[in-house]
Parts: sequence; C-alpha cells; structure tokens
Amino acid sequence: MKVLIVGSGGREHAIAWAVAQSPRVEKIYCAPGNAGIAEYAECVNIGAMEFDALVAFAKEHDIDLTIIGMDDPLVGGVVDAFEAEGLRVFGPRKNAAIIEGSKAFSKDLMKKYNIPTAAYETFTDPKEAIAYLETAKMPIVLKADGLALGKGVLICNTLEEAKEGVKTLMLDKQFGDAGDEIVIEEFMTGREVSVLAFCDGKTIKCMTSAQDHKRAKDGDKGLNTGGMGTFSPSPFYTKEVEDFCEKHVYQPTIDAMAAEGRPFTGILFTGLMLTEDGPKVLEYNARFGDPEAQVVLPRMKNDITEVMEACIDGKLNDINLEFEDNAAVCVVLASDGYPEKYDKGFEIKGLDTFKEKEGYYVFHAGTKFHDGKIVTNGGRVLGVVAKGNDLKEARANAYKATDWIDFENKYKRNDIGKAIDEA
Ligand code: AMP
Ligand code: GLY
Repeated sequence: MKVLIVGSGGREHAIAWAVAQSPRVEKIYCAPGNAGIAEYAECVNIGAMEFDALVAFAKEHDIDLTIIGMDDPLVGGVVDAFEAEGLRVFGPRKNAAIIEGSKAFSKDLMKKYNIPTAAYETFTDPKEAIAYLETAKMPIVLKADGLALGKGVLICNTLEEAKEGVKTLMLDKQFGDAGDEIVIEEFMTGREVSVLAFCDGKTIKCMTSAQDHKRAKDGDKGLNTGGMGTFSPSPFYTKEVEDFCEKHVYQPTIDAMAAEGRPFTGILFTGLMLTEDGPKVLEYNARFGDPEAQVVLPRMKNDITEVMEACIDGKLNDINLEFEDNAAVCVVLASDGYPEKYDKGFEIKGLDTFKEKEGYYVFHAGTKFHDGKIVTNGGRVLGVVAKGNDLKEARANAYKATDWIDFENKYKRNDIGKAIDEA
C-alpha cells in the first residue's frame, strides 16, 4: 500500500518509522516532512493546511491511507476534505477534533458526562472573568479556548497575575481569536500522565502510558515548550489508576462523543493529573503527542497501518494491541534559547551512529538539508530515543546517545526521567 503522512515534526518522524516497519507498505510520502523523515519517505512540498493540494496529491498518487499527525489541519477539517473525495484517512473529523480545538467544548463535555476534571467556568466577557477571579481561590489556571501551540495556559499565583492573564488572553489577544473565550479552572497538583489511544468511533484501545516534560529548564523551570523529553511507561500509572480511567474516563469520553453526534476516530490523547482525589483530565488532544509518540511507537508490537485501518473501518475491537515489556526515554536536543530566540542553520554531526545501533533512534523535529548536509531548522531539533529493559536503563542509554550528536548551540534538559527515581 501507499501511505501519505501529513506533518513535519518528531512525531511524524516516529509515525513514518512505524509505517516503514510494515511489510504491507510499498511507498511512503510525507507532506512536508523533514530531513530525517526523508530516510523513509519521499517528502513533498505541500503544507499541512493546503487541503486542496493534499487531496489532489493523494488522488494523483493512488494513496491508500493518509495519516494526519498535526492538530491544526485536524481542527480545520482536513479529514472531512479527504472523506468528501472518498479517500481513506486516519484522524478525527472536524466535529470531533473540536475536543482539542476548543477547551470550552471539552470542559462542557466532561461536565455533562461526569468525566473527572478540574472545576471551571467559561467567559467571553473580560469584565465578568475579572469579577469571578476576585472571589476565586489562588493559584488559578487560565486557558485560551482555541489552539495556541500549547502555550495558551497561564498558571496564576496571585489575583494580580490572574487579572494580567485575562488582559493577555482576551484584550491584548496574544493568541489571537483563541482567546475570545477563556476557561478559568481550579489549580490541581499531582503527577501528569499522557495516555494515547486508538479509537474507531465506538471502541477505544489505549497504548502504553508516557510522561512529558513541558518546561524548558531542569527542575521544571523556565517557559513552557512543546515538550523537552518523555519516558514510557509511567511508573505512576498503576493498574489501579488504569482501571479507574478505563471506567470513568476513556470509554465514557468516546461514548459521550458518539452521543453528541461527533464519533471520534483517530488518536485520542488524554492528559491526566493524578491528584489526591483521583485521576482528573487536564486536556484532550486529537492526535499523537510530540514527543510522546517517539517513546510509545518504538515499543508497539502491532503493524500501525493495520490498527489505523481497523479504526477507519470500525473494527478496532478485532485488534489485540500489544507493547513490549520494556521502557523508552526520549531526550530532546533543542537550539539554545528555545522557546524564545535562537539561531538555526548549524550542521548536525553524528546522525549516522544511530543507524548501527539496535534500540536507539533519532527522530528529527526541526532539520533540513542544506548543501548536502543536514542542518538545524527549528527550536526542537532532534529527539534522541533509547530503549532499555527498565526505565533507568533506558534513561542511561538515551543520555549516552545524546553525546553522539553534535551541533553548535545544542541544548538539552539533564533531568528527563528524574521522576523515575521517586517511583
Ligand atoms: P494543557 O494544555 O491543558 O495540558 O495545559 C498545559 C499544562 O499546564 C499541563 O500539562 C499542566 O502542567 C498545566 N495545567 C493545565 N491545567 C492545569 C490545572 N488545572 N492545574 C494545574 N496545572 C495545570
Ligand atoms: N507533548 C504534548 C503534546 O503533544 O501536546
């Protein structure tokens, strides 16, 4: 079969790697792709938001399966555009991707169907938001309703900060229209876990768990980023937590979406906070996490194309989803200065070392070809991944492998997976 992958980050590289493992696949294309994805796929110069061009490409090249990696095209309705032309595509339709595209929608869904989440209120009027804050308990969390590259969440310790936050989101419109409506919610504490799941509209099957590290600096300091590293599985995601979430979160969410006339097909990513009062949903995403995919997919035993096709055909129930009984850690190598100001265009050395090593992977996030060399082309540059028999071994292996790579302003966190020591 011929597969088209839409996206250009480390997540899409991990998806391309998984697709390339399938004996069913004869050809992979990626739009627009990056220098690492080019090892498995023919990269085509079409942007993820150019729906007409993507659909035309899929028709012209007899693509059997298109996989959408990113949130923006999903929320914008790319799946509907493919389906309208009778093309097979993996991902939620626009009316289901709203579970990620609107935080107000997802919070209202959880409230209506009794899915555990932080208490909240939604506001479209900044004056009403401020009046509410004056009576609220601090710290408190402000969230822009729409997509904001993972940056539309403000944790405010004081009333002053919270008022400033309302101004940032609603009046200064730092995230554009995403801040027309905001969610103000209770601040929760606990460990975070990411659980990705395949869904076919009625059935949901969870993958192994993972934990991200969102802040730029060691000790969870610095600004929020797209994710600086991950480990899988999470030792805090115990059988007890899993059983609770199976009963109260995952299937209820899929049933709720179906009941609302918005059947969810694709990847549902549930961000959980394990609080003293039990697990609560922080957020939903309508796609694989980045860099969660980089630690989850290398541990998956199934042929990813078979699982995705089962989702499209409503036959996920027939699939026995299996993961290796080991662990993986991803350390992101970024450009120093990310997520603010950074330089790019530096040659990356050492990539070939990974080709000879079993259980080690280097997934490209921001790279490109320049004069026959691979150079840095973004804030997050590479995800260095290693497996191990357990989390500690995987972590030691991943950090060892970060030394194989060299580029001028290479930056990484040194404490990815530190939580493992507390498990
Ligand atoms: P989100 O995009 O909703 O996952 O939020 C980004 C990050 O903000 C989460 O991963 C948490 O670390 C933090 N966060 C979001 N909501 C809350 C909350 N209600 N209480 C505490 N931290 C939160
Ligand atoms: N790693 C978090 C995300 O992909 O949203």
